Amino acid sequence: MNNNKRRDFLKLGSLAGLGLASANLIASCKNTNGKEAVLATEVTSSIQNFNMSGYQAPKLETVRIGFIGLGMRGPGAVKRMSYIDGVEIKGLCDLRPKQVEKAQKILKNTSHNPETYSGDEEVWKKMCDRDDIDLIYIATPWELHTSMAVYAMEAGKHVAVEVPAAKTIDECWQLVETSEKTKKHCMMLENCCYDFFELLTLNMARQGFFGEIVHGEGAYIHNLVDLNFNKETGYESMWRLKENATRNGNLYPTHGLGPICQIMDINRGDQMDYLTSLSSNDFNMHNRAVESAATDDFYNPYKDVAFRGNMNTTMVKTKKGRSIMIQHDVSSPRPYSRIHLVSGSKGMARKWPSPARIAKGHQWINEEEFKEIETKYTPEIVKKVGELAKKVGGHGGMDFIMDWRLIDCLRNGLALDQDVYDAALWSSIAPLSERSVANRAQSVDVPDFTRGSWKTNAPIELTLKGAGTTNVIFNK
Ligand SMILES: NC(=O)c1ccc[n+]([C@@H]2O[C@H](COP(=O)([O-])OP(=O)(O)OC[C@H]3O[C@@H](n4cnc5c(N)ncnc54)[C@H](O)[C@@H]3O)[C@@H](O)[C@H]2O)c1
Repeated sequence: MNNNKRRDFLKLGSLAGLGLASANLIASCKNTNGKEAVLATEVTSSIQNFNMSGYQAPKLETVRIGFIGLGMRGPGAVKRMSYIDGVEIKGLCDLRPKQVEKAQKILKNTSHNPETYSGDEEVWKKMCDRDDIDLIYIATPWELHTSMAVYAMEAGKHVAVEVPAAKTIDECWQLVETSEKTKKHCMMLENCCYDFFELLTLNMARQGFFGEIVHGEGAYIHNLVDLNFNKETGYESMWRLKENATRNGNLYPTHGLGPICQIMDINRGDQMDYLTSLSSNDFNMHNRAVESAATDDFYNPYKDVAFRGNMNTTMVKTKKGRSIMIQHDVSSPRPYSRIHLVSGSKGMARKWPSPARIAKGHQWINEEEFKEIETKYTPEIVKKVGELAKKVGGHGGMDFIMDWRLIDCLRNGLALDQDVYDAALWSSIAPLSERSVANRAQSVDVPDFTRGSWKTNAPIELTLKGAGTTNVIFNK
């Protein structure tokens, strides 16, 4: 589907349009179950074109960045990147000129003087076509991620793309094949892999604290109902409400899943095998749509729509026999949670509800022991930029750790912590869960985007070996 057609799909504004899109999607999953399940794992070739896992691109002394998407998420990245030495912000692009102007203001009184692009749905291509940009940073609606990332890689740029990187299995393969063909990085910006407890538990797992990892849990439980129904300051063109009104499954799996996959060395020693996914019905979104439509005709198209079931639970079995549970609920009045639970043969850890806890048996360890473990297992990257990251901010600092690490790896010619196989696999959980949900939680095979190289790919580097040379200019 080309870019314009994708947008047309989500622009379906009429009641009939939304209802039809929703019905068709579910019907297509039901009618073609056998075939779709095969297609989900089908590979255009069983041989990997080039292995991007561990790929070290040529060093870039300066990383020249172009940003696409400057809505609620994008400007924060512009700000964070402006603090990092060795970064040059060369381009700012958003469909809406106002958003570009706002982002430009962030760079006032800095050395950055980007060109701006706006007012046209395809204007981002102009920025990607420039030959003085190294990295395209994408924070647009989900339906645009893959086409933008593929175009940028084809234009010779590395890509950092917001979560999820793709919406369909076909898009996942497009990312993999383009990254392998162009030898350009395609990193999904899974910032939760850089949160403090997640990094701590990754290092603990590496050092054998948990013994054999048996089970992991993650989630995205975040009440976004108000934001979804906010036509003034919410998502541009209500894109996220439309996603929730036309699909049913775990639409946003990567926040809870990414850190668990790194701990289990998924794509690098273990691989997902199959999943099963079940959704509750919707008890909240439809009611809210009816309520909203009673006072504002704008919401009429949504009042007869079958919304995504509020709670989705997806379970994955890995090739090595471990299990993963991932939940998704963005429409219930609950406190925020990504769960982050790691359970092994010798111990376990769990964050949410806070405080984070660790156990080696029946009882949680006490605060003093917790602090000792924290001191012992805090990884180098946190020692290096953790405190600074907390000052810079961005989800408590994890966003900055992620951006700094990305730039530092590019400048030092190191492999990135998250490669295109992670982007594809973690994103694929959404369409696979939709398939399973539409078929009474039947199991669905998970494609192996590494085409077998997971058996020999090295785990991600947790030290700062050959890295850590990038300075930060931040004085607040
Ligand atoms: N990692 C995280 O913690 C995190 C947090 C929030 C959002 N996100 C992700 O960031 C992305 C953006 O989310 P958001 O909340 O900023 O949404 P948003 O609607 O506020 O912003 C999207 C922006 O993309 C722009 N856009 C749309 N079509 C475009 C086009 N053709 N060319 C250029 N610009 C275009 C819109 O004008 C808008 O400004 C999403 O993928 C979301 O999942 C990630």
